[in-house]
Amino acid sequence: MADFSDKLVQILNYGSLNLGLGIGYALEIFDVMDEKGSALTLGELAGATGLNSRYLKEWLGIMVTGGIIEMTKKPDNDDTFFLPSSHGDLLCRRAGNNNLGVYTQEIPLLTACAMNAVKQGFKTGQGVPFSIYPDFQAFMSELAEAKHRKVLIQEFIPYVDQGRLEKRLQQGIRVCDIGCGQGVAVCLMAQAYPKSEFVGMDNHEKALEQARALSESFGLSNIAFINQDAAEIREASKFGQYFDYVCAFDAIHDQSHPLDALKGVKYMLR
Ligand SMILES: C[S@@+](CC[C@H](N)C(=O)[O-])C[C@H]1O[C@@H](n2cnc3c(N)ncnc32)[C@H](O)[C@@H]1O
Repeated sequence: MADFSDKLVQILNYGSLNLGLGIGYALEIFDVMDEKGSALTLGELAGATGLNSRYLKEWLGIMVTGGIIEMTKKPDNDDTFFLPSSHGDLLCRRAGNNNLGVYTQEIPLLTACAMNAVKQGFKTGQGVPFSIYPDFQAFMSELAEAKHRKVLIQEFIPYVDQGRLEKRLQQGIRVCDIGCGQGVAVCLMAQAYPKSEFVGMDNHEKALEQARALSESFGLSNIAFINQDAAEIREASKFGQYFDYVCAFDAIHDQSHPLDALKGVKYMLR
């Protein structure tokens, strides 16, 4: 009983800590502390971040008791606060593919968007539409930045099929990225392999608009984006046996009909 009570208290505490971490990440407080690299007083932190010191004081309390930030208490001086660089390695934007800070926003975001609709769904059995997550694509784009920017071209592609995929991409093949979201991965590939031809597919028009804008900002001419439900590729697509390589990053598991999407992949491959 005591063990279970401890466990529940721990869950509640960590839940609150997650919210505090999400705020610190979104407002880039960790990044500022990390860049400074030394212990800061509350006033110095408020000055460096441009944030309200009363709010920062409460937030620092959560971070210190949660073991994220270290506090040094001096009898006659102001308290100082320090983010160890080993914590910055995982919490800050500079962490690239090791960035766990970005994920601290996931629970707050999903709760704010969907908690009521999901509770309602338990009673009605109705699904929860994608449109209920207005900030989801922006969050996904942040994740994509963290996941793909430093890894996709440098590490992932050269590893596939013992380097053979990279060679074929360099020579020129046709590639489809299913559930491309805001297009970070497929644009990076199109930029790295100009002789290949790329199609980004998603069923979320807003994400595709941003993907097209990203491709324009890269100045790419070997890429197209289409609005296509992956579950209906076989019925609707002109792409039967068209592609040499089909990829999907983090985009099969959360679809309504993943098996149909995978059958679509088979249908599109040469
Ligand atoms: C987790 S996000 C991943 C986005 C991107 N691939 C990345 O790595 O950042 C999943 C994507 O799948 C898309 N998606 C979900 N269901 C889909 C469907 N039935 N057909 C096409 N895309 C779908 C969503 O719109 C979203 O952009």
